[in-house]
Parts: sequence; C-alpha cells; structure tokens
Amino acid sequence: MPPIHRCSEALLSLDLSGKVMVVTGGNSGIGRVTVEQLARQGAYVVLACRRVAEGRRVAEEILASGSRGQVEVQELDLASLQSVRDFSARVLQVHPVIHGLVNNAGIMNSPMQKTQDGFELQFGTNHLGHFLLTELLLPALKAGAPSRIVNVSSCFHDKAMGREGRIDFEDLNFERRKYDGWSAYAQSKLANLLHAKQLSKVLSGTGVTAVSVHPGWVRSNLIHFSMPVFLQDILLRPLFRLAGMLEPWEGAQSTLFALLSPEVSNQSGKYFSQVGIYRTREAQRGGWPLHSPNPHAHDDGVAERLYQVSREWVGLA
Ligand SMILES: NC(=O)c1ccc[n+]([C@@H]2O[C@H](COP(=O)([O-])OP(=O)(O)OC[C@H]3O[C@@H](n4cnc5c(N)ncnc54)[C@H](OP(=O)(O)O)[C@@H]3O)[C@@H](O)[C@H]2O)c1
Repeated sequence: MPPIHRCSEALLSLDLSGKVMVVTGGNSGIGRVTVEQLARQGAYVVLACRRVAEGRRVAEEILASGSRGQVEVQELDLASLQSVRDFSARVLQVHPVIHGLVNNAGIMNSPMQKTQDGFELQFGTNHLGHFLLTELLLPALKAGAPSRIVNVSSCFHDKAMGREGRIDFEDLNFERRKYDGWSAYAQSKLANLLHAKQLSKVLSGTGVTAVSVHPGWVRSNLIHFSMPVFLQDILLRPLFRLAGMLEPWEGAQSTLFALLSPEVSNQSGKYFSQVGIYRTREAQRGGWPLHSPNPHAHDDGVAERLYQVSREWVGLA
C-alpha cells in the first residue's frame, strides 16, 4: 500500500472564519468530507450538488456535528451549462468574494450518454461544466485573492484501466471513435489537470492559485457504473483496503492540502497528492508537486488549445 499522508494538525485547525469556499459534489464521498472539514474550521461553505434534498440532509448532519462554520446548499447540475450559469448567478449575487473553489464532482466509466448540451457525459460533466463554473466565478475568486482553485483529477489521467489519457481534439465527444468509458474518464481527468495548468498562466499575477490533485483510490459511489457499490462497501472492502483503498476522509487530504497549505501558493498549475503513488522521493513524501508520467500532461500547447476549445464550447469565446 503506498504511503498516505495526513495534513498536519496545524493545517486542519487553521481558522477559516470569514472564508467562502465552494465545493462541487459536496453531498458524497470526498466532497462531503471536504465540506465537513472546512465547516469545522469555521468556513462558510457552498455545498453544490445536483440532488438538493440529499445535499440538505448532509448539510444538516454536518452542522449537527458541531461545526463552527456554515453550509449553504445550492443546486448545480454540471451536465447542464444552463444549470452552471444559474448556480453561478445565484452564488455571485450573495458571495461577490470567494476564497476557494473545489471542482470535485465527477463520474467515472459511465455508459455512452450526452449532457444536456450534447457533449459526451464524462467530458461534459467532469471538465466542461467545471470549466464554465470556474470562468464565471473568477471575478469573485480574484476579489478573494489570495484564493485557490483545486481540480480533483486522478492518477487515471495517465492510464485508466490500461487506456492512455489523451485529449482527442478531432473527436472529443467520441462521435467517430468507438466509445470506451475508461478512455473517456482518462480524457476528462487529463482535462482537469491541464485546466489547472493553463489557469496558472491565465491567472498569473492575480493571486489566484490553481492546482490539480489525485485523491488516491477512495471508497465512494464513484464506482457505481463499474460495480454495485455494496460489493465495494461490504464484500470486497477488506480485500480492497489491503490493496490500498482509502476511506473518504483519507482521500480528502489531498484536496485539503492543496486548498489550505501555504506551500501551494507558489506552485500554481502543479499536480499534488498526499498518496505516494509514484516512486519518486517527492511523491513518497506526499503533498509535493508530482511529476505526471503522462507526457500530454506536460504539453503547454495541448493545455492552451483545450482552454480555447473549452471557452468556445461553453459559449464564452
Ligand atoms: N474514488 C476514487 O477512487 C477517486 C480516485 C481518483 C479521483 N477521484 C475523483 O474524486 C472526485 C470525487 O469523487 P468521489 O470518489 O467522492 O465519488 P462520489 O462519492 O460518487 O462523488 C461524486 C460527486 O459528484 C457528483 N456529481 C456527479 N455528476 C454530477 C453532475 N452532473 N452535477 C453535479 N454533481 C455531480 C455526485 O452527485 P450524486 O451524489 O448526485 O451522484 C457526487 O456528489 C471525482 O472527481 C473523481 O473523479 C476519485
């Protein structure tokens, strides 16, 4: 099992009173633990989710557990650009200053489906929805500087079940190539990483830091398109744990490190993990910027082109 590093107590007890944080997919898995921890530290957290009733139930549980901060639930369906626009308008009206945006929500290995705007579902949800959200919230993030954007990517941006992560500009939506759920996931997670990389250039000098993270292999609902969740949670859990599967609170450590650690502010565009998945000394130490094994993750041209295409596709160009 690779080493997993917990954030320091000092980081997890920083006073976040007066800080506004937005976390997508905050009702489940890694996102839920992230919301819980930020609220515990006194932050005002906007829990963005597509199932509002479930989000409210989670928010009530978090607040009942004695957190010092606040949790506001707002509806957001990343598979609809209109929903992203509506969410952003509502949030900006109340919060013209935002200090942290965690682009956490995601789906993995879904069957071929399209978003409401006609994009392949994983690329549309994991990347394009978050891309538009980030662009629309940027004025508030700039107003909140020094502020952070954390994209929850994955080590599967490199290879997902053997499928290499690459951005296929000729066929981003799998209209000409045969659809494969793992290739689509790898493409979307590489897009998360490249998005943060390009943001670091676009936002240079603004005080807004953008990074991506790999949370580790985490027990969550993400698996549901690949196997029934109860298999992972009950029958296979001891075996998976031995093989390195983490609990959500462990998986949230990478996000929290990237969002809160002072060491990250001068590392914009980099890729972090608290899980020592790569065999370099830096990776084993956790937290430190990692060197992705995927050559496309280091290609400035791909990052810039993806940014421009994304702007066009979400209607901002
Ligand atoms: N678990 C892992 O091993 C692992 C490894 C590497 C990276 N990651 C990344 O970690 C992030 C969090 O995943 P997780 O493991 O915590 O899984 P999870 O428990 O399934 O959480 C995913 C969250 O995304 C939300 N979501 C999905 N589609 C959405 C949409 N169209 N609009 C708004 N929200 C949507 C889900 O909402 P619902 O509850 O309504 O479905 C849920 O809140 C993902 O980006 C994932 O790619 C996870």
